[in-house]
Amino acid sequence: MKKFLILSAFFMLACVPLFSEADEDCMICHEDPDLKTEEGTLLFIESVKFLSSVHGESGISCVGCHSDLQGFEDFPHKEKLETVSCGECHDKAAEEFKASIHSEATIKKDSLIVSCKDCHGKHDIRNKDDFDSRVFPLNLPQTCELCHLGKVKRERGVEFIKQYEKSIHFEGLEKAGLTTSSNCSNCHGAHDIKAVHHPLSRVSRENIIGTCGTCHVGIERDYLEGVHGKDYAKGSKDVPVCTDCHSEHDITSPQNLASSVYKTKIAEVCSRCHDDEALSRQYGFLTSRLKTFSDSFHGTASKFGETRVANCASCHGFHAIRPSSDPKSSTHPGNLPETCGNCHPGAGKNFAEGKIHVISEKISNKWAYLLKIFYIILIIVIVSIFLIFIAADIFHRVFRRRKRE
Ligand code: HEC
Ligand code: HEC
Ligand code: HEC
Ligand code: HEC
Ligand code: HEC
Ligand code: HEC
Ligand code: HEC
Ligand code: HEC
Ligand code: HEC
Ligand code: HEC
Ligand code: HEC
Repeated sequence: MKKFLILSAFFMLACVPLFSEADEDCMICHEDPDLKTEEGTLLFIESVKFLSSVHGESGISCVGCHSDLQGFEDFPHKEKLETVSCGECHDKAAEEFKASIHSEATIKKDSLIVSCKDCHGKHDIRNKDDFDSRVFPLNLPQTCELCHLGKVKRERGVEFIKQYEKSIHFEGLEKAGLTTSSNCSNCHGAHDIKAVHHPLSRVSRENIIGTCGTCHVGIERDYLEGVHGKDYAKGSKDVPVCTDCHSEHDITSPQNLASSVYKTKIAEVCSRCHDDEALSRQYGFLTSRLKTFSDSFHGTASKFGETRVANCASCHGFHAIRPSSDPKSSTHPGNLPETCGNCHPGAGKNFAEGKIHVISEKISNKWAYLLKIFYIILIIVIVSIFLIFIAADIFHRVFRRRKRE
């Protein structure tokens, strides 16, 4: 037993990585916690952190990165050393990074410099699957936000980035601990991040369906089968993509009041296009869809916050929307009993008969409409006069009593 203990202690020692002889040369000075440059930059290297980093564990020596000191023995060395080039060993990452917006920012002299160490660190770099890595999915938002909530101001400002923290995706990471939820890199990439409108950007119109679809596989399939998706696949710029309906950084569950597709807000989302004059002319829509919906029982109740009534999506669906002429469409005459029946149990063919988007009386009977408006104004005027009369009476009584006292 004793022998075993000694043996295992020996193995444990052997497993603890130690500095190589060459690295000891550097640590003679850099082990000193007080070592600083004249400007006060700390030059102290924490042994434990470095030795437990992926490079320390892989036996990469100091001069593996600080390569201008390779073979150097005549210490002290010169004051300024070359910038470390990570690409010497990580050529694929470096190649991708070179074509990114972050690399462009570095080349433009007046901008902030972005380099490998900003996302990975220097002497404490860890494997990307390590809990403590700066690029581990749960830690990544913080790493990006270091710049994007600070010094870097883009078109839509810092608030736009901050919205991410209100999203279901962030909640998934933070609260549910789901590494499969979407962090910044799932949508934007890591080394190959492009300006958002660049055609190769993962969030550009051209690519956004595939980007959300990497995780929401079933929804991508449904979308591409619908009328919007079919046109999207042909390159149309007029149809909605995921972010037109769900927004970008503050995506939440549709059951959340803040969601852009919360039941009572859906009409607004669809009408952005379906009430648009130019689009309707181009595609032969009727722009009366919102109006006819709003005038219907469903629309009126919805305006008052009633969520049980039908909205555009309850009848048309939302991802695989099909024109009513398509027999598979939920609004095809043959399928209406089922569509309405979802909420009106027992709804037969008769129930669903007649136009749903009917032009209301309001427009077809102009005189009746004007008369109604006249009555409404008359009532408001009469009630107002009545209220003024009561107020004057009260004032008069109070005034008289004061005078008597
Ligand atoms: C004799 C002590 C000593 C030894 C040995 C030594 N350094 Fe230094 N090192 C210094 C001092 C002092 C500075 C600060 C120079 C200055 O004033 O800017 C420094 C600065 C540095 C810097 C920062 C340079 C810059 O451009 O800001 C790096 C990197 C560095 N050392 C790496 C190494 C490596 C790698 C080794 C081993 C191969 C090593 N040092 C060995 C004393 C030492
Ligand atoms: C994985 C690559 C890598 C290894 C290995 C490495 N360094 Fe560095 N080191 C860097 C980077 C990156 C910087 C930041 C400056 C730069 O970009 O050139 C840096 C900076 C430094 C500095 C300046 C102070 C600072 O923190 O910015 C010192 C001192 C230093 N290194 C010493 C060492 C010593 C001693 C070792 C070995 C124990 C070592 N380095 C191993 C990448 C490395
Ligand atoms: C904007 C932040 C960012 C910058 C800058 C950055 N990386 Fe990364 N890097 C990441 C993220 C995020 C991951 C994890 C990607 C993943 O999970 O697939 C990663 C992963 C890696 C990996 C391991 C996985 C792989 O792709 O092989 C290496 C190696 C790496 N980076 C090296 C570098 C080097 C070298 C540079 C500089 C040329 C660099 N990184 C610059 C964010 C960055
Ligand atoms: C001398 C070669 C060398 C240099 C220079 C170097 N690395 Fe590495 N790096 C390695 C080796 C070896 C590994 C461990 C094997 C692996 O996982 O690829 C590694 C691993 C990594 C990993 C983890 C890979 C993963 O799968 O998650 C990252 C991240 C990384 N390096 C980033 C950097 C960054 C950033 C720099 C510059 C500051 C740098 N490396 C400089 C050799 C190097
Ligand atoms: C669910 C996907 C998704 C996630 C997660 C995400 N983004 Fe975005 N991001 C987008 C989309 C979509 C746009 C807008 C694209 C457009 O305008 O066409 C965008 C735009 C941006 C922009 C440009 C802002 C501007 O003002 O134009 C920046 C910078 C950005 N995101 C950074 C981040 C950071 C940092 C994180 C993590 C904290 C993050 N994003 C998380 C999808 C995402
Ligand atoms: C060291 C600071 C820094 C870090 C860390 C950083 N960025 Fe950036 N980022 C910038 C700068 C600077 C720009 C602007 C480039 C320009 O103006 O040309 C930029 C631009 C962008 C853009 C393009 C914005 C647009 O308007 O099109 C996106 C998207 C982006 N970053 C996402 C990220 C993500 C995701 C991460 C984390 C993986 C990250 N950034 C980490 C500094 C940083
Ligand atoms: C035309 C607008 C529109 C487009 C485009 C759109 N969605 Fe939706 N999406 C909705 C509506 C409306 C709902 C929810 C309706 C409800 O359940 O009340 C929804 C629900 C969802 C849900 C939650 C599923 C559920 O039933 O709770 C996810 C996830 C989702 N969408 C992802 C996506 C993705 C990914 C894309 C792109 C491939 C996309 N959406 C495109 C309107 C849209
Ligand atoms: C890396 C994978 C991934 C990517 C990329 C992604 N999502 Fe998600 N999304 C998830 C996960 C996982 C959840 C569930 C999170 C939770 O429930 O906490 C989710 C939830 C959602 C929800 C709420 C669903 C519900 O029923 O509550 C919507 C809506 C949504 N995502 C839309 C999008 C859109 C739009 C995009 C593209 C801009 C996108 N997602 C990109 C993984 C992803
Ligand atoms: C970004 C603009 C946009 C948004 C938002 C939008 N649509 Fe569309 N929609 C279009 C365009 C453009 C077409 C025409 C496609 C074609 O005919 O090829 C279309 C076609 C349709 C059609 C088929 C029309 C026909 O006559 O064949 C229906 C039904 C439809 N949309 C319903 C909806 C619903 C319901 C919503 C909301 C959940 C919605 N749309 C949101 C742009 C939009
Ligand atoms: C109660 C169910 C219901 C609601 C709610 C509803 N629709 Fe419709 N919609 C239909 C039916 C049924 C048709 C086909 C018959 C017709 O044109 O009246 C249709 C037709 C359409 C068309 C013509 C294209 C086609 O497929 O024939 C568009 C565009 C449209 N609706 C958009 C909307 C929008 C936008 C909303 C929300 C503001 C909405 N609808 C709300 C049931 C509904
Ligand atoms: C998402 C659920 C839902 C769908 C789908 C739906 N309705 Fe309704 N509808 C309601 C609710 C809730 C009321 C409120 C009164 C009630 O409970 O009957 C209502 C009320 C009505 C009313 C007026 C009140 C009445 O009972 O006479 C009519 C007419 C009506 N719906 C027709 C339709 C038709 C036609 C369809 C199919 C094209 C349809 N509805 C689809 C939920 C729905």
